[in-house]
Amino acid sequence: MRVDIVSVFPEYFAPLDLSLIGKARSSGVLSINVHDLRDWTHDVHRTVDDTPYGGGPGMVMRPGPWGDALDQLGGTLIVPSPAGVPFTQKMAHSLAAEAHLTFACGRYEGIDQRVVEEFGGLEVSLGDYVLFGGEVAVLVMLEAITRLLPGVLGNADSLADESHAHGLLEAPMYTKPFEWRGHTVPDVLVSGHHGKIARWRRDQSLLRTAARRPDLLAALDPATLDKRDIALLREAGLPVPGEGVAEW
Ligand code: ADE
Repeated sequence: MRVDIVSVFPEYFAPLDLSLIGKARSSGVLSINVHDLRDWTHDVHRTVDDTPYGGGPGMVMRPGPWGDALDQLGGTLIVPSPAGVPFTQKMAHSLAAEAHLTFACGRYEGIDQRVVEEFGGLEVSLGDYVLFGGEVAVLVMLEAITRLLPGVLGNADSLADESHAHGLLEAPMYTKPFEWRGHTVPDVLVSGHHGKIARWRRDQSLLRTAARRPDLLAALDPATLDKRDIALLREAGLPVPGEGVAEW
């Protein structure tokens, strides 16, 4: 996969040389090129922003340098923005299937909207909070996308059960020692009974998701729930997806 990143702070992307992203780059699975937006300015001050039409605080990024940069780079345009559609694991999967992604990092009050329109960009938000700019959001998205590329994770099985793989949060995990500061590991995990362990993990996933992310539980396809799932949720007094509250 080819990735281009355009920013006024290219130094933000130094961590992309590290760890598994760095390895994916040196192995050739991933090619990342970081560009300074100011390289596409033509004035002596290398100006990238101007005051907003209609007034208001802050500055807006001028369309000119962005247009020239994106004409040259091409690729599917992704623009991090708190006003974007939510970034999800599902979106990470679909972006991982692209051959060429270009990320445009806005600063200040954002980029002139005509740039997104001209290049058919997708505005994507990490969550309901505001960052200084898109740089950190790009690091987050790239990490989520890179680990889905074929050959990047040593053990592809770890993708199968992780949080969000099936619309549920992952069960808690434990390692040795069996007892630590008086806390022991749940007995079922040392029982050697694979069926019981799988069932226990499934129960934990459901209960955790219900407690922490009721929105995810409610969005589950009822067809993915077995009898024991439904009994568990009922016993815990939790809403069962697909069983609407009776109307009267
Ligand atoms: N830029 C500023 N805030 C952001 C957010 N929440 N998500 C993505 N990009 C952003």
